[in-house]
Amino acid sequence: MSIASFPEGFVWGVSTSAFQIEGATSADGRGPSIWDTFSADRAEACDHYHRYSEDVRLMKDLGMAAYRFSVSWPRVFPEGTGKANQAGLDFYDRLLDELLAAGITPYATLYHWDLPQALEDAGGWPSRDTAHRFADYAVAVHEKLGDRVDTWFTVNEPWVAAFLGYGSGGHAPGRAFAAEAFTSAHHMLLAHGLGVRALRAAGASKAGAVLNISPVMTPAQVSDLGRALSPEDAEAVARIDALANRQFLDPILRGAYPADLLPVIERAAGLGHVHDGDLEIISEPIDVLGVNYYTPLVVQAQPSEPADPAFPGSAGVLFCTIPTAVTAMGWPIVPNGLSLVLRRLSEEYPETELLVTENGADFVDVVTGDGIHDPDRISFIEEHLRALRTAVEDGARVRGYLVWTLLDNLEWADGYQRKFGLVHVDFATQRRRPKDSALWYRDVIRRNGLTETRPRRPTLETVAARARVSRATVSRVVNGEASVSPEVRTAVMRAVTELGYVPNAAARSLATRRTNTVALVLSVPRQGGDQLTAAVVQYVTSMLEGAGKQMTLMLADTAESHRRIVQHVEARLVDGVVLLPADRGDTLAERLSRTGVPVVLLGKPAIASLVPYVDVDNAGGAAAATELLLAQGRRHIGMVCGPMDLVAVRDRLSGHREALRRAGRQPLLAVADLTRASGAAATRQLLGDHPGLDAVFAATDQLAIGALRAAREVGRRVPEDLAVVGFDDVDAASATAPELTTVRVPVADQALALARLLLSRLEGRHTTSVVLPARLVVRESA
Ligand code: FCB
Repeated sequence: MSIASFPEGFVWGVSTSAFQIEGATSADGRGPSIWDTFSADRAEACDHYHRYSEDVRLMKDLGMAAYRFSVSWPRVFPEGTGKANQAGLDFYDRLLDELLAAGITPYATLYHWDLPQALEDAGGWPSRDTAHRFADYAVAVHEKLGDRVDTWFTVNEPWVAAFLGYGSGGHAPGRAFAAEAFTSAHHMLLAHGLGVRALRAAGASKAGAVLNISPVMTPAQVSDLGRALSPEDAEAVARIDALANRQFLDPILRGAYPADLLPVIERAAGLGHVHDGDLEIISEPIDVLGVNYYTPLVVQAQPSEPADPAFPGSAGVLFCTIPTAVTAMGWPIVPNGLSLVLRRLSEEYPETELLVTENGADFVDVVTGDGIHDPDRISFIEEHLRALRTAVEDGARVRGYLVWTLLDNLEWADGYQRKFGLVHVDFATQRRRPKDSALWYRDVIRRNGLTETRPRRPTLETVAARARVSRATVSRVVNGEASVSPEVRTAVMRAVTELGYVPNAAARSLATRRTNTVALVLSVPRQGGDQLTAAVVQYVTSMLEGAGKQMTLMLADTAESHRRIVQHVEARLVDGVVLLPADRGDTLAERLSRTGVPVVLLGKPAIASLVPYVDVDNAGGAAAATELLLAQGRRHIGMVCGPMDLVAVRDRLSGHREALRRAGRQPLLAVADLTRASGAAATRQLLGDHPGLDAVFAATDQLAIGALRAAREVGRRVPEDLAVVGFDDVDAASATAPELTTVRVPVADQALALARLLLSRLEGRHTTSVVLPARLVVRESA
């Protein structure tokens, strides 16, 4: 087995931050931070404050050489100023002793976003004084821990802390003023400079800052970096690069703000906050720059676009969604972005030594009794490590790599739903279990390199053996064939989950032949009318064409056309298929997925399988509609259901039923087909059977429009006597009288998700189905 190895002495480890893991928010005199105030989630996090020994042991078992943690400022200065709280510092004292005993080198970050609330109340980062309080804090921490910390980082990602905290308001403290974002950024830079000076004066050996550096590119450059830009796009790229990257790099490493950024700052905030001498402090030489990399910023010029509040001064720049595989966070996966960043930094700031201080991903893990399977995270880290290695070969000065992060944790405004950890945490019990990625990373560290061949994934054979069935049966189940008994289906699906099996059709078709063509297969008729279909065709086509694919549109309207389409795909004339199936169960989806060519579906299929699909939360939308009616005091709510063989209609009915059950009420149903006339007829029937009826929830807008007509005919006023709610939010829904209250199905998002799903499959990635939220749109009819 040959090995792609890393330079000798390359530093391997993980990063964490105090607020995200420690918990114990009032233990030993800790004061509140802005995140305690801002966060809506349970503050216990991973209870690392009490479980640090176990966590250090875990790291030791995984072979980590380095651990980057952050010190919680409000533990040390509960009131922001005054005397340091020794009990708080003692925790880090214990942690350091434990780390050193385990042979792990500690890297300490002083500010990872948890400003003492008292300092926020005194003005927060827009106030210059906060930078001086930071320097005091740095001195106090160094005094206690300085003898054991190898490298000090002052601030973590000041762009995020300033522009999300004070610009867009998406992060704590939740303020949204462009001027404050710029003054905060400057004061964080000043805090960094004052901090480095204070640390050095106290005898610290190595100090630096941690910046999130995102390469900025246009959509076309994502796949073709060398692509030349129009002057307008080049200007857009430069402006965002100045805001996101150079605003921090240049003051720290060159002692000046970028010339093209100064007018942008001045327009938003004036320049009065930048005092003489500040930049000299900020550019105090550093020993290492921490680089956090997750994803690029993709932009293009678009004159009509208003400024994004997180990027004040960005008017005329569109932040683009690109058709690449994404993490569960929705962040595009672009490993080459890491080489780009590292190479660029080493070219433009050649004196600076680099450490990748964060890189990692949120994915949906498969949690089973025999382990936590996260093949996506392994691929993500592996691809980024390969990119890093390329940059090192090209001369980038990178001294190590720290994964974000050790434990699943409290991901800021997103709470506990995000899973970035190498180690799974069960938040009910605080039990820790290393995921497959942790064990894989341990091996990487052990051999200081990657194997040239990827680890073997479970195959069809492995699944068949585990489920004690034939390979053909496994294949039938994963492709959604109806001919398998429910028991066998359950056994196979269990084996699939336990083993983390991913059908590797895409890999096969990659290995054989590439046509660069994708078939968009339209089965007719579709429920919900032509609007969704038209939009999906338009969006999917433009996204996939944008990704360099040729599109072939195929109509599946007869048995003969089905046969021809299957033949076409079997002959490998396409690389992948986007199927917009007719809603009534037909066999086209399963026949296509048996060809081994990647297929993705619009809408959940009637039979569970591994063929990934994109759908909306039909049950959730129907429950929201029903709850609205209940909250309005409606007591006799009828539902007009469309044909019951449609999966979406069945899901809408079950959401409606569930909401009624919670409210202790019985459903009243009438079944229709898809037409307005049948919606009217079903409504007349409901009104006849239940004279007290005061609301109708219809499974589609077309049926709801029929219900409005029936109400008019029998002299019921809408909404006074009868409330009516539909589903889909078709164009006609806002043109009825009264305008229809309905549930919006996000058409463009569905199309986007479908295109992404297919691209992920074409890249041979593991993909899970996507269910998008459906939102209630309240108009006049209820
Ligand atoms: C970085 C933060 C870190 C974590 C990751 C996902 O921006 O520094 O705390 O939230 O993103």
